[in-house]
Amino acid sequence: MNELELLNDTEEIMPENIITKEQFVKFVENSVKFEELMMMYRCAIREVQTKLEILNDEFKTKRQRNPIDSIRSRIKSPLSIYEKLKRRNHPISIQSIADNLNDVAGIRVVCPFISDIYDVARMLISQDDVEVMEVKDYIKNPKPNGYRSLHYVVIIPIFLSSGKEYMKVEVQIRTIAMNFWASLEHQMHYKQFDNDDMPEIVKQLTECAENIYHTDVRMQEIREDIHKFNE
Ligand code: GTP
Ligand code: MG
Repeated sequence: MNELELLNDTEEIMPENIITKEQFVKFVENSVKFEELMMMYRCAIREVQTKLEILNDEFKTKRQRNPIDSIRSRIKSPLSIYEKLKRRNHPISIQSIADNLNDVAGIRVVCPFISDIYDVARMLISQDDVEVMEVKDYIKNPKPNGYRSLHYVVIIPIFLSSGKEYMKVEVQIRTIAMNFWASLEHQMHYKQFDNDDMPEIVKQLTECAENIYHTDVRMQEIREDIHKFNE
């Protein structure tokens, strides 16, 4: 049984007249099915987070260094869920959340060095219960504003009393430096201005992202030099 079949079993019918975000938020607050779906996403996050922590431990033991600096996770809020469904013209229903959204469960992994990002990604996706649904490499192909990060949508099984369920989790992997830029840029509300409206601001932010990336590359080179020196 997959996550959608489980929902179909006893799907609470969301009233047709749910159109405003207030109505949606009120509905989901009292919906057992919505809570069940969110519980499943929370479990999926724990599964992936544990995998990452185990990899970090093992790497530390073998190479005396952590490839992961920090891991943060979040479940998308009902309001953000509503807004994304609306923005993408998807139906507003519980079924539609599971069908159409890939980032209800989100994990952000922050690594010291660029090479750590690819090491962590490789170690995670090579596990045989992790299926890759989507990859976006915004490090090789940065966004026009300079945003860099490696994004995956993975599908992983969780084990409930009713059986196995497959859940989608968005994993963003970036360096401390990329995270520094993205956090500040996010605070400045990256979705609230249009690239065409404020070209000068976008240009300045992009310049900062380029400088930060250059530093990331330099730091990695320095580490490699130290390695050679110690050999
Ligand atoms: P969203 O609707 O934002 O989820 O975008 P998407 O589904 O098209 O996926 P995308 O890979 O573009 O972005 C997913 C997530 O990456 C976002 O929710 C942010 O957390 C992060 N992200 C993407 N672009 C930017 C950016 O320009 N700046 C910052 N700070 N974060 C970004
Ligand atoms: Mg998102």
